Amino acid sequence: MCGIVGYVGGRNAVPVLLQGLKMLEYRGYDSAGVAVFNSKAGEIKVCKTKGRVENLESKLYDSPVAGKIGIGHTRWATHGVPSDENAHPHFSSSEKIAVVHNGIIENYVVIRDFLRGQGYEFVSETDTECVAQLAGYYYSKSGSFLDSVYRVLAKVDGSYALALVCADCPDKIITVKKNCPLIVGLGKGENFLASDMPAILKYTRNTFIMEDNEVAVIEKDSVKVYNKKKEEIQKEVYVVDWTIEAAEKSGYEHFMLKEIYEQPKVVSDNLNRRFKSDGTGIRLDSIKLGKEELEGINQIYIVACGTAYYAGLVGKFLLEKMARIHVNSDVASEFRYKDPLIDEKTLVIVISQSGETADTLEAMRLAKRKGSRVLAVVNVVGSTIAREANDVIYTLAGPEIAVASTKAFSAQVVAMFLLTLHISLERGRLSLEEFREIKAEMELLPSHINTILTSAPNIKHFMEKYIGSKNVFYIGRGLDYVVCREGSLKLKEIAYLHSEPYAAGELKHGPIALIEESTLVIGVATQQNLFAKTMSNIKEVKARGARVLIIAMEGNREIENYADDYIYIPKTHPVLTPLLANIPQQLFAYYMAVGLGNDVDKPRNLAKSVTVE
Ligand code: F6R
Repeated sequence: MCGIVGYVGGRNAVPVLLQGLKMLEYRGYDSAGVAVFNSKAGEIKVCKTKGRVENLESKLYDSPVAGKIGIGHTRWATHGVPSDENAHPHFSSSEKIAVVHNGIIENYVVIRDFLRGQGYEFVSETDTECVAQLAGYYYSKSGSFLDSVYRVLAKVDGSYALALVCADCPDKIITVKKNCPLIVGLGKGENFLASDMPAILKYTRNTFIMEDNEVAVIEKDSVKVYNKKKEEIQKEVYVVDWTIEAAEKSGYEHFMLKEIYEQPKVVSDNLNRRFKSDGTGIRLDSIKLGKEELEGINQIYIVACGTAYYAGLVGKFLLEKMARIHVNSDVASEFRYKDPLIDEKTLVIVISQSGETADTLEAMRLAKRKGSRVLAVVNVVGSTIAREANDVIYTLAGPEIAVASTKAFSAQVVAMFLLTLHISLERGRLSLEEFREIKAEMELLPSHINTILTSAPNIKHFMEKYIGSKNVFYIGRGLDYVVCREGSLKLKEIAYLHSEPYAAGELKHGPIALIEESTLVIGVATQQNLFAKTMSNIKEVKARGARVLIIAMEGNREIENYADDYIYIPKTHPVLTPLLANIPQQLFAYYMAVGLGNDVDKPRNLAKSVTVE
């Protein structure tokens, strides 16, 4: 999704903005631009282009701009095609004010029509241009940059993070946000703003988070923040503990591969953090989810989007099976519009890597309005979901840069394991002995993941064999079916291959008609109690000419009779297999994407953090 970066200080702003934009590339975008105040010319220069930040860089090389204050943007098209004209920043007609914007201005047509009536001409198809023009309109009346911004805010509806510069105020950037993330970074003799931490991590780790309707005036030596009533307020500064190395590739060809290989550490960090040292349960710190609170709950509702939702489905399956509590689940975009049956006796668990996904955020707000308690499982510390939820479990995965989620999924699944164990213990559904048995198995997970990672060359070899596939089916039962859903999503996202996950038992009810000679079917068969059933479905597709790649648990050599190829995961407790069975799927999708020459870390049409509906 769109990214914003801004700089005021003593350096040339252009390299700082470009570096920031490069660090935001992972979010997904289709054009990029900067606006820099050029003190020699006494004016704002805008340079923008369709395509990658490198295109912008070469455009700036051909027609350099320099200045010590500027704003930059990567755009992910919503209103109007990706083009030079639609790229941000947008100017007011007077070229006094330039604006970059993340989000959507919902009433832009009304504003545009009003301004057209005043003689203003629009040069782009975007909703953002109406903000630039409206700010220019008010500025022409009042001559005050800050007042103009406040007047704009009183008129626009929707979601936004905005950064504005004014040619008559070459010492400041004004920034404001509503329902879109925005942070301010504090340096010495220089200050920054960004939609996401990696953009400014190279320069500072001292930041504060902008809240909705706050307005910040950022200058070289000061940052002033005002509330809706234009009263100055104080912000709490916090020091980010991510390092720049964590946001870099460290020798891996792609961030996705690096993040796949980080999973053993991510899992062990979570386990070390969460298991009580005396082996009696799970540490939830200040989260109150004991016997008494659980008695007040008659259902759990899990809500998330995409990969995070599949992690949630692992949780649903396990909570029902082990804690014997009724668990409902929905993707956030459905949940928020269906008037869900929830109340103060419902515990709503929202799961989000970014903590900024618009649908998940709104689903959470709806749940709170309905009186439910919200427990958020989030990766990004201080994100909006983390701040607004009643309780947060952080997933400790570090920055996830590749658009396709891998290590964050594993961390979310581990969080679901831990929550299930905790709730099962508290509800008296799990004995301490059983808990300790599962705990011991969980402690082996990091080394099991390492073992699976050593099979990467085999998986690369499977890619070479199956690269011509046009349709891929993933089939499995129970927990394996959840794993299939995630595997299929990953293949679609980065390999751009049509793929469908099916509950293996459903094949006969229709989808088997799609199986023809050489169709690739990936069977996930780690659940011993369902193994024979899944195998009979495998035989059915084999009999219709499919080529079959099976992921099964070590020791189940029977699969060798049916599979064209197979991958074993190390033996583990049956409830823990989703974490392990998913790793070969991640590698398979990765190698397929590389083999097909796709941009693995920035797949087409996708954004890392979906902050619009
Ligand atoms: C897939 C992927 C997406 C996200 C989804 C939710 O690889 O990354 O499906 O899982 O957009 O994002 P978060 O977790 O940030 O709420």
